[in-house]
Parts: sequence; structure tokens; C-alpha cells
Amino acid sequence: MGPVTDHPAAGSRTATAVAHPNIALVKYWGKRDATLNLPATGSVSITLDTLTTRTTVTVDPALDRDHVILDGRVDADSGPRITTFLDLVRQRADTTARARVDTANTFPTGAGLASSASGFAALAVAAVAATGMTLTVDELSVLARRGSGSAARSLVGGFAAMDPGHRADGSDALARQIAPADHWPLSVVIALTDRDAKAVPSTVGMTASAATSPYYDAWVAQSAPDCAAAIDAIARRDLAALAAVTEASTLAMHAVMMATRPGLIYWSGATVDAIHRVRRLREVDGRQVFFTVDAGPQVKAVCEPADAPAVAAALREIPGVLETTTVGLGPGAHLVAGVT
Ligand code: PMV
Repeated sequence: MGPVTDHPAAGSRTATAVAHPNIALVKYWGKRDATLNLPATGSVSITLDTLTTRTTVTVDPALDRDHVILDGRVDADSGPRITTFLDLVRQRADTTARARVDTANTFPTGAGLASSASGFAALAVAAVAATGMTLTVDELSVLARRGSGSAARSLVGGFAAMDPGHRADGSDALARQIAPADHWPLSVVIALTDRDAKAVPSTVGMTASAATSPYYDAWVAQSAPDCAAAIDAIARRDLAALAAVTEASTLAMHAVMMATRPGLIYWSGATVDAIHRVRRLREVDGRQVFFTVDAGPQVKAVCEPADAPAVAAALREIPGVLETTTVGLGPGAHLVAGVT
């Protein structure tokens, strides 16, 4: 039995990476291949700052299995998913050495704040370095996608576009930066409506939607034009145009979800109230803001930084909104410590 020690054994190698969650503006919902985790739709996203996953991977030939520590505790739930991901990295690095993974989030894990995106992006960067490989950002994005589709986008900072690709091996299904964070330094006010959201996992939900939602094919067909409209709005820093396409994509995705059998209702009452409030803030109060909602009940209000305090104050007044967090746009996943 390989010992787990605080000090890496001889022959081991350690790397630490950080990554931030990203929020899709044009959404991804549906897979064209489940095994390779290939998306059926493209997506456009913003990578956040402040919310951070920090992951240290130690590849240690003395270990007889992988050990996963999440937020300071042995993590039995995500252990198998992480081992499956590490197997991909090991295969590529041509090693069988097991690893110790120590990962921590500065925000609630699995509560609709995209912890799987930052988690697999940080894991990809740290694990690749700890196995002695050097991959391009494109290759890291392809790899991170195998852990979670949205993780491919956290490899790049600022504004990202994910290409669904068309190759069977998935080598062209990756995210690329379309503009850096300082191109348009937007703020995102996250309105938390449920601290421990027990949502239907995205993979389960997507598979059910593809199989049973009568709107699924129309949803997939609308993706490319929506991505093009969002990319164009970002290039022109046109908030009204980005608001229109983001809210349309969000509502269409939730329509597909709700029309799934049995219906997937990710929203709480406070989600609906917050959506209406954001619309009023824009249409009546003249604030530069729009909403987006993922596979959970939290509402993310994207706005010009000058409007963020008023948006946060308005959302906090809604009964059922537990707290708000305001963040900006941040960098892609990267190594923070040299490989030792
Ligand atoms: O990558 P996953 O499996 O976490 O799926 C992400 C799905 C949504 O968050 C609902 C939409 C998106 O594009 O991020």
C-alpha cells in the first residue's frame, strides 16, 4: 500500500495550477458524442476572476491508487471522475504512476457556480505539468473538455468561443479566446438563491433533453447563428445586442430543459423574480445589464462595472436571494508554481 505523506517521495513530481469558472452567454446543452464528451452546440463564454480553484497534483510512483482531497477532505464523490480524467493524462504521458490531487475552491462546490469548469481546467493544467508533458492551450482545452464540456472554456481568459468541431476524434472541439478581459471589462453579479443546489447533473440532463425534448433539434440549429451574433456584439462592445442574444439563448435552453420528459426545472421562485428584476433594471431604470442562468437556480447579472452596485442592491432586495457576489473577468487556467 503506497503511503500518503506530506512530503513527496523520491521520483515524484508536483505542479500547482489555478483556474476560474466561466459563464456561458450562448449556452452549450447537448452532446454529439458521449464517450469523447463532444458538444452538439458551440458556446460563447466569459471567464471570471475572484472565484478560484487551486489544484496541486503530485504524481508519485509509490502510490497504489489516486488520492483526492477536495476543500481539505478526502472526496469519495468526485474521486472516480478525477481518476477517469487522470487515466487520460497517464495514457498520453505513457505512465502508470498514481497521483495525489489536492484541490480547493474559494466558492461553494457544485452549487451552480461552475466549479466543474474551473476544477477540470485546473486539473488538466496541473496534471499535464506533473506528468512532465508540455501541451498547447488548444490541446489543454481539448483535454479539459473530457472532464467537463464547459471546462474547455476556462483554459482561456476573457471572452471565449467554443467550437463544437466536426471531427470524430474531437480534436477540433475546443475553446479559443475571442477577446482578452481588458477588451470589455464587464462585471458579473451572482445572485445566490440556493446554497446547496441539488440539480440534475448536466450530463444526465443533456442526455434526457436530446432523447425526449421536442425542441432539441431547433435548439441545436439556433446555436451557430447565436454564437456569431454574440461574437459580433462582443467585438463591438454592444451591450444591448449581447443582452438580446444571451437572454434568448438562456431562455431557449431552459425551454428545452422544461420540455424534456420528465421536465427539468432548474429554477426556484427567486430565479424568476431575479430575471424580472434584471429586465426592469435595464428597460425601466436604464441600467446596462442582462441575465443568464445555467443548470441551477442562481442568476448571473452581467453588467457594466458602473451599474454593478445598483444591480447587486436590487437583487439583494428580492426575498429568496441569499447573497450576491460581484466579480470581474479574469485569466485562463495557468500554472502558479514551478514543477518540483
Ligand atoms: O460542462 P458541463 O457539463 O458543466 O455543462 C454546462 C452546461 C451549462 O452550464 C448549463 C451551459 C454552459 O454552456 O455552460
